[in-house]
Amino acid sequence: MNESDAPNPSSSAQNAYQSTPIDYLTRIARLFENYKTHALDFLELKAGLHLLDAGCGAGDDLLALAARHGDHIQLTGVDLDESSLAEARSRARNAKAKIEFIQSPLNPLPFSDGHFDVVRSDRVFQHLHDPMGALNELIRVTRPSGLVALVDVDWGTLVLDHPRAEFSDRLAAFIRDKHINGRSGRMLYGMMREAGLENLTAYAEAIAVTDWEVAAFIWGIPASVAAMVKADLAEAQEAEQWLDEAAAHAKAGRFFGSMTGMVVKGNFKG
Ligand SMILES: C[S@@+](CC[C@H](N)C(=O)[O-])C[C@H]1O[C@@H](n2cnc3c(N)ncnc32)[C@H](O)[C@@H]1O
Repeated sequence: MNESDAPNPSSSAQNAYQSTPIDYLTRIARLFENYKTHALDFLELKAGLHLLDAGCGAGDDLLALAARHGDHIQLTGVDLDESSLAEARSRARNAKAKIEFIQSPLNPLPFSDGHFDVVRSDRVFQHLHDPMGALNELIRVTRPSGLVALVDVDWGTLVLDHPRAEFSDRLAAFIRDKHINGRSGRMLYGMMREAGLENLTAYAEAIAVTDWEVAAFIWGIPASVAAMVKADLAEAQEAEQWLDEAAAHAKAGRFFGSMTGMVVKGNFKG
Protein backbone atom coordinates (compact mmCIF):
# COMPACT_ATOMS: atom_id res chain seq x y z
CA MET A 1 0.00 0.00 0.00
CA ASN A 2 1.54 3.35 -0.90
CA GLU A 3 1.12 6.45 1.23
CA SER A 4 -1.82 7.90 -0.71
CA ASP A 5 -3.77 4.62 -0.45
CA ALA A 6 -3.18 4.32 3.28
CA PRO A 7 -6.15 5.06 5.54
CA ASN A 8 -5.71 8.24 7.53
CA PRO A 9 -7.37 7.44 10.85
CA SER A 10 -6.45 10.81 12.32
CA SER A 11 -8.09 13.14 9.80
CA SER A 12 -11.81 12.75 10.57
CA ALA A 13 -11.14 12.85 14.29
CA GLN A 14 -9.10 16.02 13.82
CA ASN A 15 -12.01 17.65 11.98
CA ALA A 16 -14.29 16.76 14.89
CA TYR A 17 -11.78 18.35 17.23
CA GLN A 18 -11.63 21.54 15.18
CA SER A 19 -15.38 22.01 14.80
CA THR A 20 -16.48 21.24 18.36
CA PRO A 21 -15.48 23.71 21.08
CA ILE A 22 -15.89 21.45 24.10
CA ASP A 23 -13.65 20.70 27.05
CA TYR A 24 -10.13 19.32 26.83
CA LEU A 25 -10.87 15.70 27.79
CA THR A 26 -13.71 15.43 25.34
CA ARG A 27 -11.59 16.97 22.58
CA ILE A 28 -8.98 14.34 23.31
CA ALA A 29 -11.61 11.59 23.37
CA ARG A 30 -12.72 12.68 19.88
CA LEU A 31 -9.23 13.08 18.53
CA PHE A 32 -8.29 9.65 19.88
CA GLU A 33 -11.60 8.15 18.77
CA ASN A 34 -10.13 4.96 17.29
CA TYR A 35 -7.87 4.39 20.27
CA LYS A 36 -10.81 4.89 22.65
CA THR A 37 -13.16 2.65 20.66
CA HIS A 38 -10.59 -0.16 20.45
CA ALA A 39 -9.84 0.05 24.18
CA LEU A 40 -13.57 -0.32 24.97
CA ASP A 41 -13.99 -3.17 22.43
CA PHE A 42 -11.04 -4.92 24.11
CA LEU A 43 -13.09 -5.28 27.33
CA GLU A 44 -15.52 -7.66 25.54
CA LEU A 45 -18.28 -6.72 27.96
CA LYS A 46 -21.28 -8.99 28.45
CA ALA A 47 -24.72 -8.08 29.79
CA GLY A 48 -25.20 -8.11 33.55
CA LEU A 49 -21.73 -6.85 34.51
CA HIS A 50 -20.92 -4.03 36.92
CA LEU A 51 -17.99 -1.89 35.68
CA LEU A 52 -15.91 0.70 37.49
CA ASP A 53 -14.09 3.41 35.51
CA ALA A 54 -11.41 4.61 37.93
CA GLY A 55 -10.42 8.22 37.17
CA CYS A 56 -13.37 8.69 34.83
CA GLY A 57 -12.86 12.43 34.26
CA ALA A 58 -15.87 14.02 32.54
CA GLY A 59 -17.33 10.56 31.89
CA ASP A 60 -16.58 10.22 28.17
CA ASP A 61 -15.87 6.49 28.31
CA LEU A 62 -18.80 5.69 30.63
CA LEU A 63 -21.15 7.61 28.35
CA ALA A 64 -19.79 5.68 25.36
CA LEU A 65 -20.38 2.42 27.25
CA ALA A 66 -23.92 3.51 28.22
CA ALA A 67 -24.62 4.30 24.55
CA ARG A 68 -23.35 0.83 23.56
CA HIS A 69 -24.96 -1.27 26.29
CA GLY A 70 -27.87 0.78 27.69
CA ASP A 71 -29.07 -0.67 30.99
CA HIS A 72 -27.50 -4.07 30.27
CA ILE A 73 -24.41 -3.21 32.25
CA GLN A 74 -24.14 -1.24 35.48
CA LEU A 75 -21.70 1.68 35.35
CA THR A 76 -19.84 3.47 38.13
CA GLY A 77 -17.18 6.17 37.82
CA VAL A 78 -14.86 7.65 40.43
CA ASP A 79 -12.60 10.65 40.11
CA LEU A 80 -10.83 13.03 42.47
CA ASP A 81 -11.98 16.11 40.61
CA GLU A 82 -15.45 17.29 41.61
CA SER A 83 -15.82 19.70 38.65
CA SER A 84 -15.20 16.86 36.15
CA LEU A 85 -17.77 14.77 38.01
CA ALA A 86 -20.34 17.61 37.92
CA GLU A 87 -19.89 17.77 34.13
CA ALA A 88 -20.12 13.97 33.90
CA ARG A 89 -23.36 13.90 35.93
CA SER A 90 -24.90 16.62 33.80
CA ARG A 91 -23.98 14.81 30.57
CA ALA A 92 -25.37 11.54 31.91
CA ARG A 93 -28.65 13.29 32.79
CA ASN A 94 -28.87 14.77 29.28
CA ALA A 95 -28.15 11.39 27.72
CA LYS A 96 -30.65 9.72 30.10
CA ALA A 97 -27.85 7.31 31.04
CA LYS A 98 -27.90 5.59 34.42
CA ILE A 99 -24.33 6.08 35.67
CA GLU A 100 -23.22 6.44 39.29
CA PHE A 101 -20.44 9.01 39.85
CA ILE A 102 -18.55 9.15 43.15
CA GLN A 103 -15.79 11.50 44.23
CA SER A 104 -12.86 9.42 45.46
CA PRO A 105 -9.16 8.87 44.99
CA LEU A 106 -8.11 5.62 43.30
CA ASN A 107 -6.55 4.51 46.53
CA PRO A 108 -8.37 3.89 48.78
CA LEU A 109 -11.65 3.25 46.97
CA PRO A 110 -14.93 3.38 48.92
CA PHE A 111 -16.07 -0.13 47.87
CA SER A 112 -15.99 -3.54 49.52
CA ASP A 113 -13.72 -6.35 48.27
CA GLY A 114 -14.89 -7.90 44.99
CA HIS A 115 -17.59 -5.27 44.39
CA PHE A 116 -17.11 -5.07 40.58
CA ASP A 117 -16.93 -7.52 37.69
CA VAL A 118 -14.76 -5.20 35.60
CA VAL A 119 -12.43 -2.41 36.75
CA ARG A 120 -10.65 -0.23 34.25
CA SER A 121 -8.71 3.02 34.17
CA ASP A 122 -7.65 5.15 31.20
CA ARG A 123 -4.80 7.70 31.31
CA VAL A 124 -4.78 8.03 35.08
CA PHE A 125 -1.69 6.04 36.08
CA GLN A 126 0.61 8.66 34.51
CA HIS A 127 -0.55 10.97 37.33
CA LEU A 128 0.11 8.58 40.22
CA HIS A 129 3.03 8.55 42.68
CA ASP A 130 2.19 4.98 43.72
CA PRO A 131 0.80 3.19 40.65
CA MET A 132 1.37 -0.30 42.14
CA GLY A 133 -0.60 0.65 45.27
CA ALA A 134 -3.44 1.92 43.07
CA LEU A 135 -3.39 -1.24 40.93
CA ASN A 136 -3.64 -3.42 44.04
CA GLU A 137 -6.61 -1.33 45.19
CA LEU A 138 -8.33 -1.75 41.79
CA ILE A 139 -7.75 -5.50 42.11
CA ARG A 140 -9.14 -5.53 45.66
CA VAL A 141 -12.51 -4.23 44.44
CA THR A 142 -12.62 -6.73 41.52
CA ARG A 143 -14.41 -10.04 42.09
CA PRO A 144 -12.49 -13.32 41.69
CA SER A 145 -12.02 -14.06 37.96
CA GLY A 146 -13.19 -10.51 37.19
CA LEU A 147 -11.37 -8.31 34.68
CA VAL A 148 -8.89 -5.49 35.31
CA ALA A 149 -7.89 -3.31 32.35
CA LEU A 150 -5.42 -0.45 32.29
CA VAL A 151 -4.91 2.03 29.47
CA ASP A 152 -2.26 4.71 29.40
CA VAL A 153 -0.08 6.63 27.01
CA ASP A 154 3.67 6.52 27.43
CA TRP A 155 5.08 10.04 27.17
CA GLY A 156 8.42 8.52 26.16
CA THR A 157 6.85 7.66 22.79
CA LEU A 158 6.10 11.28 21.87
CA VAL A 159 7.89 12.13 18.61
CA LEU A 160 7.74 15.40 16.70
CA ASP A 161 9.07 15.93 13.19
CA HIS A 162 10.90 19.25 13.09
CA PRO A 163 14.10 20.44 11.36
CA ARG A 164 15.77 20.82 14.77
CA ALA A 165 15.61 17.20 15.84
CA GLU A 166 17.99 17.59 18.77
CA PHE A 167 15.86 20.30 20.43
CA SER A 168 12.68 18.35 19.62
CA ASP A 169 14.04 15.27 21.39
CA ARG A 170 15.04 17.33 24.43
CA LEU A 171 11.57 18.87 24.47
CA ALA A 172 9.89 15.45 24.25
CA ALA A 173 12.03 14.20 27.16
CA PHE A 174 11.11 17.32 29.14
CA ILE A 175 7.40 16.71 28.51
CA ARG A 176 7.83 13.03 29.53
CA ASP A 177 9.62 13.96 32.74
CA LYS A 178 7.20 16.68 33.82
CA HIS A 179 4.60 13.94 34.28
CA ILE A 180 4.65 12.19 37.65
CA ASN A 181 4.77 8.79 35.95
CA GLY A 182 5.60 9.70 32.35
CA ARG A 183 6.70 6.17 31.36
CA SER A 184 3.41 4.72 32.63
CA GLY A 185 2.31 2.98 29.41
CA ARG A 186 5.31 0.65 29.06
CA MET A 187 5.06 -0.35 32.74
CA LEU A 188 1.43 -1.50 32.82
CA TYR A 189 2.05 -5.07 31.63
CA GLY A 190 4.86 -5.77 34.10
CA MET A 191 2.92 -4.24 36.98
CA MET A 192 -0.13 -6.34 36.20
CA ARG A 193 2.08 -9.46 35.99
CA GLU A 194 3.66 -8.54 39.35
CA ALA A 195 0.21 -8.04 40.87
CA GLY A 196 -0.67 -11.64 39.97
CA LEU A 197 -3.28 -11.03 37.29
CA GLU A 198 -3.80 -13.94 34.89
CA ASN A 199 -4.50 -14.27 31.16
CA LEU A 200 -2.68 -11.01 30.46
CA THR A 201 -3.26 -9.59 26.98
CA ALA A 202 -1.72 -6.38 25.72
CA TYR A 203 -1.56 -4.23 22.64
CA ALA A 204 -0.29 -0.78 21.76
CA GLU A 205 -1.81 1.78 19.42
CA ALA A 206 -0.22 4.95 18.14
CA ILE A 207 -2.06 8.11 17.25
CA ALA A 208 -0.82 10.40 14.52
CA VAL A 209 -1.39 14.16 14.56
CA THR A 210 -0.71 16.14 11.41
CA ASP A 211 -2.13 19.48 12.56
CA TRP A 212 0.43 21.57 14.44
CA GLU A 213 -2.22 23.63 16.31
CA VAL A 214 -3.86 20.45 17.58
CA ALA A 215 -0.51 18.95 18.60
CA ALA A 216 0.54 22.17 20.33
CA PHE A 217 -2.72 22.09 22.30
CA ILE A 218 -2.98 18.43 23.30
CA TRP A 219 0.69 17.98 24.15
CA GLY A 220 1.08 21.43 25.75
CA ILE A 221 4.07 22.20 23.53
CA PRO A 222 4.43 26.03 23.75
CA ALA A 223 3.99 25.92 27.54
CA SER A 224 6.67 23.23 27.83
CA VAL A 225 9.08 25.19 25.62
CA ALA A 226 8.55 28.21 27.92
CA ALA A 227 9.06 26.00 30.99
CA MET A 228 12.35 24.68 29.56
CA VAL A 229 13.61 28.26 29.23
CA LYS A 230 12.45 29.07 32.76
CA ALA A 231 14.28 26.02 34.09
CA ASP A 232 17.48 27.04 32.21
CA LEU A 233 17.23 23.93 30.04
CA ALA A 234 17.01 25.99 26.85
CA GLU A 235 18.11 29.44 25.65
CA ALA A 236 15.22 31.85 25.04
CA GLN A 237 16.47 32.47 21.50
CA GLU A 238 16.69 28.79 20.48
CA ALA A 239 13.25 28.19 22.02
CA GLU A 240 11.69 31.03 20.06
CA GLN A 241 13.42 29.88 16.90
CA TRP A 242 12.16 26.33 17.42
CA LEU A 243 8.56 27.55 17.79
CA ASP A 244 8.86 29.79 14.68
CA GLU A 245 10.30 26.92 12.68
CA ALA A 246 7.57 24.57 13.91
CA ALA A 247 4.97 27.02 12.60
CA ALA A 248 6.83 27.34 9.26
CA HIS A 249 7.19 23.54 9.02
CA ALA A 250 3.46 23.23 9.64
CA LYS A 251 2.66 25.96 7.09
CA ALA A 252 4.58 23.91 4.52
CA GLY A 253 2.20 21.04 5.35
CA ARG A 254 4.97 18.93 6.87
CA PHE A 255 4.09 18.70 10.54
CA PHE A 256 3.82 15.19 11.99
CA GLY A 257 3.68 14.06 15.61
CA SER A 258 2.84 10.75 17.20
CA MET A 259 2.37 9.09 20.56
CA THR A 260 1.59 5.52 21.60
CA GLY A 261 -0.94 4.26 24.12
CA MET A 262 -0.70 0.85 25.80
CA VAL A 263 -3.69 -1.28 26.76
CA VAL A 264 -3.49 -4.35 29.02
CA LYS A 265 -6.14 -6.59 30.54
CA GLY A 266 -6.03 -9.57 32.86
CA ASN A 267 -8.15 -11.58 35.26
CA PHE A 268 -8.00 -11.52 39.03
CA LYS A 269 -7.73 -15.12 40.12
CA GLY A 270 -9.12 -14.29 43.58
C1 LIG B 1 -6.24 12.42 31.61
S1 LIG B 1 -7.65 12.36 32.62
C2 LIG B 1 -8.46 10.93 32.00
C3 LIG B 1 -9.92 10.91 32.27
C4 LIG B 1 -10.70 9.74 31.65
N1 LIG B 1 -10.23 8.47 32.16
C5 LIG B 1 -10.61 9.77 30.14
O1 LIG B 1 -9.96 8.88 29.57
O2 LIG B 1 -11.21 10.68 29.53
C6 LIG B 1 -7.06 11.86 34.20
C7 LIG B 1 -8.12 11.84 35.27
O3 LIG B 1 -7.59 11.18 36.42
C8 LIG B 1 -8.06 11.84 37.57
N2 LIG B 1 -7.12 11.52 38.64
C9 LIG B 1 -5.80 11.80 38.72
N3 LIG B 1 -5.27 11.30 39.83
C10 LIG B 1 -6.27 10.67 40.49
C11 LIG B 1 -6.35 9.95 41.73
N4 LIG B 1 -5.27 9.77 42.48
N5 LIG B 1 -7.54 9.44 42.09
C12 LIG B 1 -8.64 9.60 41.30
N6 LIG B 1 -8.63 10.28 40.13
C13 LIG B 1 -7.46 10.80 39.74
C14 LIG B 1 -8.07 13.31 37.18
O4 LIG B 1 -8.91 14.07 38.03
C15 LIG B 1 -8.56 13.22 35.74
O5 LIG B 1 -9.96 13.31 35.67
